[in-house]
Amino acid sequence: LRVAVYGAGHVGTAVAALLDKVPGCEVSGPFHRAERESALRSGAEVVVIATTSFLSEVGPDIRLAVQSGSNVITTAEEAAFPWYFNGVLAEELDTLARSRGVSILGAGLNPGFAFDSLVLTAAGVTSSIDQISVERVVDLSGFSTAILRRLGIGFDEAAFRAGVAAGTITGHIGFPQSMRIVARRMHLELTSIERSIEPLEATREYRVADMSVSPGESAGFRQRYVGMCEDRPWFQAFFLGHIDPQGAGHQPRDEIVITSEAPKLRVVIEPGINPQAGAPRVIANSIERLAAASPGWVTVGDLPPATPSAHS
Ligand SMILES: NC(=O)c1ccc[n+]([C@@H]2O[C@H](COP(=O)([O-])OP(=O)(O)OC[C@H]3O[C@@H](n4cnc5c(N)ncnc54)[C@H](OP(=O)(O)O)[C@@H]3O)[C@@H](O)[C@H]2O)c1
Repeated sequence: LRVAVYGAGHVGTAVAALLDKVPGCEVSGPFHRAERESALRSGAEVVVIATTSFLSEVGPDIRLAVQSGSNVITTAEEAAFPWYFNGVLAEELDTLARSRGVSILGAGLNPGFAFDSLVLTAAGVTSSIDQISVERVVDLSGFSTAILRRLGIGFDEAAFRAGVAAGTITGHIGFPQSMRIVARRMHLELTSIERSIEPLEATREYRVADMSVSPGESAGFRQRYVGMCEDRPWFQAFFLGHIDPQGAGHQPRDEIVITSEAPKLRVVIEPGINPQAGAPRVIANSIERLAAASPGWVTVGDLPPATPSAHS
């Protein structure tokens, strides 16, 4: 299987290294921006795009790779359920992929696993679900400065709120996508999604990536998304990200609680899934399931679980 990796940051580099160890997998890249054509026009069976979070930015790259006959898997959070943000682009690329007999998938750890695939799997032992609640506490210290700034690290409170209002600070992206993946699999329509984000102030000086965070600036944030089904909260997503969670008294963890007519189901992962290691693994473990998927734009809810090769 030939795989080309576009994006030479943390995820692209880690995915290429993981796939290098898989027998029968021939990897090229990770390719930098200047090598865009080498990656996207490679004609590889699978092109991995690990560059940005936004459909408007990865859309042209996906289009080029699909036109070149490749299946595409991207870590862009908005691509996990593309109909939510840009239905027109999603339909166009879905049609193009079908015409070329290839598939497109947005995946990763979150979205792509913790708030959707794992929730769907856990839901298999429940019935008549009243409410799903998922919470993650995540150590952000391994991310690049570009990602940390976009998440909202290193701002005083006024700048944080202004960035949120302007859309330059997003916190973690991908909760509406995960909620819609889960809802669609359960034949349920979410009527609205409410959201909030609050900064968590540093109480000491931090050095992280190539930036510093002073006391009083944001060293983390707390997010809450609520997917409403008519008048009731059906899916609650809580996310606490911090550059020193333990130091600030927050233990990294993942927790899923499903309230249904069956006894309440609680799945806890402690310590939480490592974000730097988890996302590249989900991508590397998705190559085969993507190559075998039905043509078109698919979601992780349409596919079997991501699994590593027993030989890698
Ligand atoms: N779904 C998930 O669970 C998940 C998990 C991890 C990451 N992600 C997302 O995946 C993306 C990559 O993550 P990362 O940790 O690898 O980030 P990173 O370390 O910052 O690396 C990003 C790489 O992509 C390049 N790049 C940025 N914007 C680009 C563009 N518009 N066109 C081409 N290349 C571009 C950067 O080049 P320059 O240095 O030249 O800017 C850099 O080499 C991020 O948006 C992140 O939010 C999603």
